[in-house]
Amino acid sequence: MEPLVDPFARAIRYLRVSVTDRCDFRCVYCMSENMTFLPKKDLLTLEELDRLSSAFVRLGVEKLRITGGEPLVRRNILTYFNAMGRHLDSGALKELTLTTNGSQLARFAADLYAAGVRRVNVSLDTLDEDKFARVTRWGRLPQVLKGIDAAQAAGLRVKINTVALKGFNEDELFALVEWCAGRDMDLTFIEVMPMGDIGNEDRIGQYWSLKDLRAQLAAHYVLTDTPESSGGPARYVRVEETGARIGFITPLTHNFCESCNRVRVTCTGEIYTCLGQEGHSDLRGPLRSSEDDAVLEDAIRAAIALKPKGHDFDYSRQDVSGRVSRHMSHTGG
Ligand code: GTP
Ligand code: 5AD
Ligand code: SF4
Repeated sequence: MEPLVDPFARAIRYLRVSVTDRCDFRCVYCMSENMTFLPKKDLLTLEELDRLSSAFVRLGVEKLRITGGEPLVRRNILTYFNAMGRHLDSGALKELTLTTNGSQLARFAADLYAAGVRRVNVSLDTLDEDKFARVTRWGRLPQVLKGIDAAQAAGLRVKINTVALKGFNEDELFALVEWCAGRDMDLTFIEVMPMGDIGNEDRIGQYWSLKDLRAQLAAHYVLTDTPESSGGPARYVRVEETGARIGFITPLTHNFCESCNRVRVTCTGEIYTCLGQEGHSDLRGPLRSSEDDAVLEDAIRAAIALKPKGHDFDYSRQDVSGRVSRHMSHTGG
């Protein structure tokens, strides 16, 4: 079968599937406190998610990342992970993974490993219990730390995702680096992106550029660029003093769109071919209108043919431009 290639000759090998828009946290840069979620009846069923994801795998997707919201709050989600595990067994899929806030990880770690997951990305913006409760609006840090312990004990590699937040975790930069290195975990910093209404929170006030963060690290450690990739947008350095890797996801200061290899499917069956654009296509219609997989595959190809060149996020003026109206939790980042 012809693999998926977009109009800019980028091969699409990485699919991110958001299995729910719901989350048990309300991170201040992600959602407003009184976020409204989709009615459950609008969600694709787990069988539909399986059929849709499998179509992508047939079309050449090799890396499947399950996201949300918080993927582990979706009922019976292990059924879907186990179903995707069969694509690992057949060799079609090289990696099945998830991005999680860690709150439910203690409960799920062993079953995820059994389903074929070998690596998880856990969001963690601070190591301070009070600050954690503030940034997530009510999350409990010990619960997430327990989840991380359980994941490592189950044999999963853990990568920590930290959103760089001005005036919030600047003072924890070195503590986070040392903590992750001490536990043999990669750490990736992310620039906060202007997505969705977050109530009274101030995007520009939150924004801490990774150029600045990296300069602070470089003043303290010897950083060596490495071409290693985890298949996503992060660029990595190795910290000579600790031996650990640090990744930088820099949609604002260094646009990585030219090498984009990914698309996203939402829990209602829309496909977004760029995180930073509003354009999307419907796959639920084709999924439900016909049992014939060729119909679905044609709809996927048609959507990929519309993939834009990149996003336009920009904080360089006093207002935030290039913003998109939907929340990160809609497309799972
Ligand atoms: P690895 O497999 O570990 O490389 O994961 P990943 O970085 O691809 O996925 P993860 O879910 O950990 O995403 C980390 C952050 O990168 C999230 O905030 C995503 O929104 C962001 N991200 C991922 N892909 C893109 C992209 O195409 N564009 C932008 N602007 N951000 C992205
Ligand atoms: N900008 C950058 N990262 C965000 N995340 C959620 N919202 C935003 C945003 N507006 C992060 C989460 C998680 C990942 C999937 O996306 O912290 O690590
Ligand atoms: Fe939930 Fe992740 Fe958004 Fe935080 S960033 S509210 S954990 S979806």
